[in-house]
Amino acid sequence: MQEFNQYQTPCHVYDLNLLRQTLNVVQTESKKYNFKVHYALKANTNEKVLAIISSFGLGADCVSGNEVKTAILNGFAADEVVFAGVGKSDEEIRESLEANIFCFNCESYEELEVINEIAGELQTTARVALRLNPNVDPETHEYISTGLSFNKFGFSQAELERFFENRTQFSSLEVIGVHFHIGSQIRTDQPFINLCKAVNFYLGLFEENGIHVQNINLGGGLGINYEEPDREPIPDFANYFQIIHENLSYCEDQQVHFELGRSIVGQCGNLLTRILYRKENGDRNFLIVDAGMNNLLRPALYNSYHKIERLSSGRNGLRQKYDVVGPICESSDCFGKGIELEDSKRGDLLSIRSSGAYGQSMELNYNLRDRAKVYYLGE
Ligand SMILES: Cc1ncc(COP(=O)(O)O)c(C=O)c1O
Repeated sequence: MQEFNQYQTPCHVYDLNLLRQTLNVVQTESKKYNFKVHYALKANTNEKVLAIISSFGLGADCVSGNEVKTAILNGFAADEVVFAGVGKSDEEIRESLEANIFCFNCESYEELEVINEIAGELQTTARVALRLNPNVDPETHEYISTGLSFNKFGFSQAELERFFENRTQFSSLEVIGVHFHIGSQIRTDQPFINLCKAVNFYLGLFEENGIHVQNINLGGGLGINYEEPDREPIPDFANYFQIIHENLSYCEDQQVHFELGRSIVGQCGNLLTRILYRKENGDRNFLIVDAGMNNLLRPALYNSYHKIERLSSGRNGLRQKYDVVGPICESSDCFGKGIELEDSKRGDLLSIRSSGAYGQSMELNYNLRDRAKVYYLGE
């Protein structure tokens, strides 16, 4: 607490020891089945965080040319980088081919044509995995659901058939795998079991069409405990990998890949903020804090829950319900409604928990606000 008092707020605070402990568990549990884990950079691209993750030997999952460059600059091996995304530009494709990344996770027939053409121009062969849309419900928030047939991601069944019919035309492509990602913040086993069933179906379909898939990429999606982060600082990776191992029909010569983001970095970051003002409007008590939705967008974007705690020491033991809101000119700039906290006042320090994933990486300068400062524990 003492050291937090000296921090300038708002600030992202990373517990690097928790990150290391999490990575130890990820590597120990995934290696039991010889699974390859890539870190999904979109969750957090803080350089200290990336340096630690790459030092544990994870691959990288990128969704833009700049993420590909950032991954390589921060210690990830180029031949362990996968590049997904529905809208890769020609320049991003060209630069990634020149960097000789492991694989493009290709999202449409037309994209295959473009990658084939650019690889041909560069007189190289592009390794691609087809991202398939398995129409599996991840049972999560609709904005972070990606594997249903009406989502924009992945090949539809019809586009896949078209690929099977014309695949000999892609002379500058090597199809080395299949890729799936059904969504994020998945907290139950069933969606992953359903994903495995769908993948098994597609592996059979590829075999029927004369393709023995070498790489099976199941994406990310494992969720974290936002309600009680201290009860579950490290997600249950042992159960997750076991579920996949038990339900996926894969052979010894097939490499299974994952692209985990939130489950690796979510709990190691918190957003610290100070109360600027307290006021009442109607029947509401508002705490107006110095962090805004520009520093942590998830509550405004997905109405998502982050636990809010008061770090300043106790005053009179009284507890009150507050709406904790930011300074930005949007009513959606709200971190939590009806949050029960000890009687709070101007200058008190609050911690908005579990902001390590999709916190700093989504930070904006809306309202021309500064980005939050960054501090590290366990450097
Ligand atoms: C293609 C892809 N892979 C992996 C991830 C990481 O997901 P998560 O942070 O839920 O593990 C995402 C997240 O959006 C994604 O779009």
